[in-house]
Amino acid sequence: MTEYREIFERNKAWANDKIEHQHDYFAQLSSGQQPNYLYIGCSDSRVPANEIMGLDAGEVFVHRNIANMAPSNDLNVAAVINYAVVHLGVKNIIICGHTNCGGVKAAMQSKDLGILNPWLRNIRDVYRLHRIELDAIKDEEARYNRLIELNVIEQCLSVIKTAEVQISFLKNGYPKVSGWVFNMGTGLIKDLEINFTERLKDIQSIYRLENGALV
Ligand code: CO
Repeated sequence: MTEYREIFERNKAWANDKIEHQHDYFAQLSSGQQPNYLYIGCSDSRVPANEIMGLDAGEVFVHRNIANMAPSNDLNVAAVINYAVVHLGVKNIIICGHTNCGGVKAAMQSKDLGILNPWLRNIRDVYRLHRIELDAIKDEEARYNRLIELNVIEQCLSVIKTAEVQISFLKNGYPKVSGWVFNMGTGLIKDLEINFTERLKDIQSIYRLENGALV
């Protein structure tokens, strides 16, 4: 385990290393950001967004919470999506779940977890939506892994429903929304290959806003 003081030594070494490779690295960083990606992932310490994507500072706008959720009534994620789409103009939004997700695991158990209950309820709602498919999976580990995937897909749908995404996509042809699962047993990311345009079309038949977008 890293000692608290040691972090500052590591920080200095990191900053020096960056300058050694590119003398104006921090001047560049300070001049502004134009990331192509918005990444919404789990807070889990084992899933560091930039590292698993092989991206440097400035390349990905990141939001993390327990179990990579994007519920419509969460002001935090809503503000992040708004800023990323309207002000940064990201080309891709990624919802990234992961194997061994404690949040999804907890949602599968009947246990009172206090303040976590209303948050985990969003995942239980995903379970309810896909109950027939999930209950048919007898192996608990396989059921758990499928719920991780279905949760990612449902969060993608939630992001696609936002006015920001619909309006921007109709106008600019981006951002596209993708769902991934990071496998921490292998380090590899699986693309769930959500058909974005199909999903958007489905969603717009119900959630359409004015001017071709929804309200
Ligand atoms: Co997790």
